[in-house]
Amino acid sequence: MTVFEATCTAPVNIAVVKYWGKRDTSLILPTNSSLSVTLNQDQLHSKTTIRASADFTSDRLWLNGIEESIPSNNRLVACLRETRALRTEMEAKDSALPKLAQLNIHICSENNFPTAAGLASSASGYACLVYTLSQLFQLPLDHSDLSIVARQGSGSACRSLFGGFVAWDMGEKADGSDSKAVLIEDEKHWPDLQALICVVSDAKKGTSSTAGMQLTVKTSPLLQHRIKDVVPKRMEDMIAAIKEKDFPRFAELTMRDSNQFHAVCLDTYPPIFYMNDISRSIIRIITEYNKDGVKAAYTFDAGPNAVIYAPKENMAEIYAILSHYFPGHVFDDSLSLLKDGASVAALPENFDTRISTVFAEGSVKQILHTEVGDGPRVLASQEHGLLNAEGLPKRLA
Ligand code: DP6
Repeated sequence: MTVFEATCTAPVNIAVVKYWGKRDTSLILPTNSSLSVTLNQDQLHSKTTIRASADFTSDRLWLNGIEESIPSNNRLVACLRETRALRTEMEAKDSALPKLAQLNIHICSENNFPTAAGLASSASGYACLVYTLSQLFQLPLDHSDLSIVARQGSGSACRSLFGGFVAWDMGEKADGSDSKAVLIEDEKHWPDLQALICVVSDAKKGTSSTAGMQLTVKTSPLLQHRIKDVVPKRMEDMIAAIKEKDFPRFAELTMRDSNQFHAVCLDTYPPIFYMNDISRSIIRIITEYNKDGVKAAYTFDAGPNAVIYAPKENMAEIYAILSHYFPGHVFDDSLSLLKDGASVAALPENFDTRISTVFAEGSVKQILHTEVGDGPRVLASQEHGLLNAEGLPKRLA
């Protein structure tokens, strides 16, 4: 019997022009365009296996080894409905195609990073789900078309359909058919650009992006200024900075956009705080490091974790500074920053260490060194699949 199965991985993306606000909450249409950098999935990815079989009695889903309900998740239901509808059309036109659209499916998905770290997993997760469905159903869609489906899972997921530098065009149409991801430059364009992800300890559970952004839409006058007067020009400037590989310009725009995103959160009523004291110290540290010329950029999403973008040549220095202020972290040195057990570099000579206190051990739990990466990958299920012969997860939590 033929096994209908596909296994794929998809990357995480970190926005440098942030998406914050929906004009349509069910289709997930944003109030502004956004732009992100896709990170290398050798370090961070979601992996998904989907199998269709006449033996399955219902659709089932396992996330990180735990079974989740499908019907109670409207966004997941939308992604399944859209991809099955396209497969049904294909099968109607070509009677030789196996009738996959009517079969039940088992979906098994895992992240290779702990969800507890507070790193956004919905972007890579939904991008991976939709890409794997498109492989299973052999859909004749390009990555931009697929991003329209992934967007209905989670807005930021649409940008994980591409590697490199990716814009999400907000579009104008009410049906969302022009609200999709487009490639600005691929992952080979700017090989020098790298990232350090600082996983910050935080006991509090913050407001979800989904709830937070709609409260901002409802209550923040500053968001209206951002949407109308800031983002359109910033998107153009950011695209030009990326095309020209102009790091100081890219960095200033990235930091200004992160700052404004957190300002609209503060302007929300009641206010939303995502950054904490550690996050704010990271801003001070990078600002001091940049005092004689911009050499690094920070950005923060809907949580206290920092992502620092910088050219490769500055990374050892930045890591040395972070190590001074944040002792006791785990360093995930997959790009061999500290080659052959070399020790951490000295602080730059003119760095004024008084700009922040030294934090307690483990205040930053983990630092992960990564770079710009490619879009979703197709893997051989036989070797890499997450489902066993019975169509159940090989690993359960
Ligand atoms: C701050 O994509 O998680 O990371 O569309 O409701 O699923 P939903 O929200 P989500 O929001 C991401 C917000 C952000 C900025 C960004 O990634 O652009």
